[in-house]
Amino acid sequence: MLLVLIQCLILKNHLSIGADTISVNQSLSGDQTIVSAGREKFVLGFFTPANSSNYYLGMWYKEAKHTIVWVANREKPVTDRFSSELRISHGNLVLFNESKFPIWSTNVNSSTSSPSMVKAVLLDNGNLVLKDGSNLSKPSLWESFDHLTDTWLPGSKLGYNKKTKHKLIITSWKNSKDPSPGVFSLEPVPSDNSVVILWNKSSIRWSSGAWDESLGYFSLIPEMGRSTYLNFTFVSNDNEMYLTYFIIPVNQKNIYSLNDTANLLARFVMDISGQFKVLVLNPSTEWDTFWSQPREQCDVYAFCGAYGSCNEKSLPFCNCIRGFEPKSWRDWDLKDYSGGCIRKTKLQCGNIDRAHGERDKFVEIASMLLSDNNRSEQVANIAACESICYNNCSCYGYAFDNTRCSIWNEDLSDLQQLGASDERGRSLYIRLAASEVQSTKNRKGLTIGVGVGSAVGSIFLLVLILFLVLLRKRTVYTGKGLEGSLMAFGYVDLQNATKNFSEKLGGGGFGSVFKGMLSDSTMVAVKKLERVGQGEKQFRAEVSTIGTIQHVNLVQLRGFCSQGTQKLLVYDYMSNGSLASDLFDIGISNVLDWTTRYQIAIGTARGLVYLHMKCRDCIIHCDIKPENVLLDAKFCPKVADFGLAKLVGREYSRVLTTMRGTRGYLAPEWITGVAITSKADVYSYGMTLFELLSGRRNSEQTESNGKLKYFPSMTTSTVIEGGNLLSLLDDRLEGDEAHRPSMSEVVQMLEGITDVSLPPIPRCLRIFDDNEENVNFFGSNPQDNST
Ligand SMILES: *[C@@H]1O[C@H](CO)[C@@H](O)[C@H](O)[C@H]1NC(C)=O
Ligand SMILES: *[C@@H]1O[C@H](CO)[C@@H](O)[C@H](O)[C@H]1NC(C)=O
Ligand SMILES: *[C@@H]1O[C@H](CO)[C@@H](O)[C@H](O)[C@H]1NC(C)=O
Ligand SMILES: *[C@@H]1O[C@H](CO)[C@@H](O)[C@H](O)[C@H]1NC(C)=O
Ligand SMILES: *[C@@H]1O[C@H](CO)[C@@H](O)[C@H](O)[C@H]1NC(C)=O
Ligand SMILES: *[C@@H]1O[C@H](CO)[C@@H](O)[C@H](O)[C@H]1NC(C)=O
Ligand SMILES: *[C@@H]1O[C@H](CO)[C@@H](O)[C@H](O)[C@H]1NC(C)=O
Ligand SMILES: *[C@@H]1O[C@H](CO)[C@@H](O)[C@H](O)[C@H]1NC(C)=O
Ligand SMILES: *[C@@H]1O[C@H](CO)[C@@H](O)[C@H](O)[C@H]1NC(C)=O
Ligand SMILES: *[C@@H]1O[C@H](CO)[C@@H](O)[C@H](O)[C@H]1NC(C)=O
Repeated sequence: MLLVLIQCLILKNHLSIGADTISVNQSLSGDQTIVSAGREKFVLGFFTPANSSNYYLGMWYKEAKHTIVWVANREKPVTDRFSSELRISHGNLVLFNESKFPIWSTNVNSSTSSPSMVKAVLLDNGNLVLKDGSNLSKPSLWESFDHLTDTWLPGSKLGYNKKTKHKLIITSWKNSKDPSPGVFSLEPVPSDNSVVILWNKSSIRWSSGAWDESLGYFSLIPEMGRSTYLNFTFVSNDNEMYLTYFIIPVNQKNIYSLNDTANLLARFVMDISGQFKVLVLNPSTEWDTFWSQPREQCDVYAFCGAYGSCNEKSLPFCNCIRGFEPKSWRDWDLKDYSGGCIRKTKLQCGNIDRAHGERDKFVEIASMLLSDNNRSEQVANIAACESICYNNCSCYGYAFDNTRCSIWNEDLSDLQQLGASDERGRSLYIRLAASEVQSTKNRKGLTIGVGVGSAVGSIFLLVLILFLVLLRKRTVYTGKGLEGSLMAFGYVDLQNATKNFSEKLGGGGFGSVFKGMLSDSTMVAVKKLERVGQGEKQFRAEVSTIGTIQHVNLVQLRGFCSQGTQKLLVYDYMSNGSLASDLFDIGISNVLDWTTRYQIAIGTARGLVYLHMKCRDCIIHCDIKPENVLLDAKFCPKVADFGLAKLVGREYSRVLTTMRGTRGYLAPEWITGVAITSKADVYSYGMTLFELLSGRRNSEQTESNGKLKYFPSMTTSTVIEGGNLLSLLDDRLEGDEAHRPSMSEVVQMLEGITDVSLPPIPRCLRIFDDNEENVNFFGSNPQDNST
């Protein structure tokens, strides 16, 4: 009855359905909304973030209901949207809470307008404006575009008014449930025409670099220049500095289709991940990330908070270091890691630890990238360094490097876990309570004790276990017949084979891969699938299809495991890892030589030909990149992960576009929504070839004449301008001797058994580069084809 009463009250001054305006004497409440006129792109009303009981007044896309682009009462939610209302009051747009208390207002000076005529209009670009109805040609009294939240919409400005000193900035949400301002904000810096990410409103943690007028983008974001569907305008004069952008209109360029741009939605957002992202809505109404800055999650300052360590190769990215646990599990689960971790056990420093009779200890955490809020001094050796830290109770950790002892007195934050081969890694010695250090040791002792004590009485158990093992072995073998040549493994078998998934070989969008050894001593790689979206029957059908595909350049599937939600695939183990690790890992001793690279290029191509044309159903790989080209003991390339696109199903394109590393290899049609054909693989293969030649990631920043360049476009311009192509090749492979054939190869070439391919120009002859005769000597001579 109360509800009916309330609804009646609302009806008294109801909004007509589809209205875009709130006038005096009208209000918006409950589930009422206003919708922008025109293409009806935006909606204003009350919303609640997923799993939250709070309501906020905000704006979202009509087409993507859950994408909030603006929030009025970021910090003051209401709990009952039916008794809260938004209306014009004293010349302002005001939000009243349940007890009719104003909790948010546009706060304009009402004496500058005719309060009885003021109205709020939601425009089709997502701008909510407050207008003086008595004279519509007057500038608006207030605009939501001057008070952005976390989203920068096309047509709105990021900038600074040099007269009023008003800043136009965007600030991340606190977490996925709470739109109140988080620690990351994107702000303009008028003094050097750049934008920066500020952490906690205080320290600059990322900069776009200065705006380059001739290039049309910020110097450190070349991605901006590559956008063919967004145009940016940067203005800096005596009054203001701002950056704005538009979606390039319909008939000129549309990434989704040639006809209809009504659906093309793009936005920039300061994400809770601390990254500044550009997102475009794809036809299945999911947002594709086009690029983000900083590019890597772990490059975001203090992303994991104090005593949290960020690992680019693990999901979630954040983990507490040894001896610590999340300060707030709730925030941690909401992907807000900024609160960091706290000690599990208090330090004893100074006091004797009564339980164990020992003082604090240091434990080593290897391969860490450490923060620079340390004090350092020269010492003779690591023992001296430890002693400095040990004797000061406010020292929480130290690192020793040659003769430099770095110690941390404040909370340790901005820690990053690197791979073992990363040169930047240092060992961090962290102070922990003695009991924390010993706990693992004690537990081991306990297990052994229990084991010995009960051994005598457990012969019966032993027989039982033996029986169970035999039984399981039998089920394994019956499985073998069922799935053609594939082995069906039990989960426990694979757990044992991989020593409980202890040795991780890599990870990707589908899941992690672990090294394992079967009972017959063959080495295998076990892939634990993460997002399988299919039923048991389909899974088995799909797996057995993959199992029948055999080619020398494709990784062979040996078996699988499907127990409940556990889905695993077992592949042949490739001892030389992936092409990515052989090309890009820092400090590898054997750089792949040109012959090997050529074999890899041709082998990978053959593997793809087989997938595209030779097997029964055409298979589009969808994820060709150096990580998915594996090398066996003889460096023969084997394409991995084919067929998985179908296993994972519809979620697939989302998986790909959200994965780091993959984005650069995706053909443009992935984001245009056009049907994917095998040509998508050709694009990715091309991108991989570039990297095979240069030995560097395409996306890596390359200095060239002081300008940052993207390798594929650098190559293109070098080819077009007729520059020195050889200068683009992997510079780790200098040395002409390696290019010379052996004498036995020379004999074979002269006898015509082996083809002679075009050799690189020897360094000693490159000085004659621009001499035409020399070019002809190394190239083909059109007048003399017969020789
Ligand atoms: C608003 O309501 C008041 C009182 O009911 C009335 O006097 C006034 O004319 C109304 N204003 C508009 C713009 O309808
Ligand atoms: C909301 O809660 C449900 C159940 O507790 C959970 O499955 C879901 O993932 C949550 N959604 C978000 C966005 O947190
Ligand atoms: C409305 O807001 C005021 C001021 O913030 C607060 O004191 C009051 O408790 C709120 N009413 C309700 C029902 O939450
Ligand atoms: C509002 O504007 C009037 C005239 O422009 C001015 O006198 C008054 O002080 C302003 N009020 C506030 C609160 O700024
Ligand atoms: C309406 O506003 C414009 C711009 O402020 C002004 O030039 C014009 O004189 C105003 N018209 C009336 C009727 O007040
Ligand atoms: C942010 O800065 C404020 C003071 O400006 C401080 O109180 C707060 O603890 C800081 N937040 C974090 C997460 O460090
Ligand atoms: C960018 O696009 C807008 C909107 O279509 C257009 O008005 C403007 O002229 C364009 N600017 C540039 C620099 O191309
Ligand atoms: C564009 O769409 C309209 C109507 O939806 C259709 O009549 C027209 O043929 C389309 N044009 C092209 C080039 O596809
Ligand atoms: C300590 O901080 C300095 C900068 O203040 C930094 O250069 C150095 O790398 C830090 N030490 C370690 C071990 O990371
Ligand atoms: C411990 O380190 C702090 C911070 O650097 C310093 O202020 C203090 O004097 C040191 N205490 C001792 C006993 O050296």
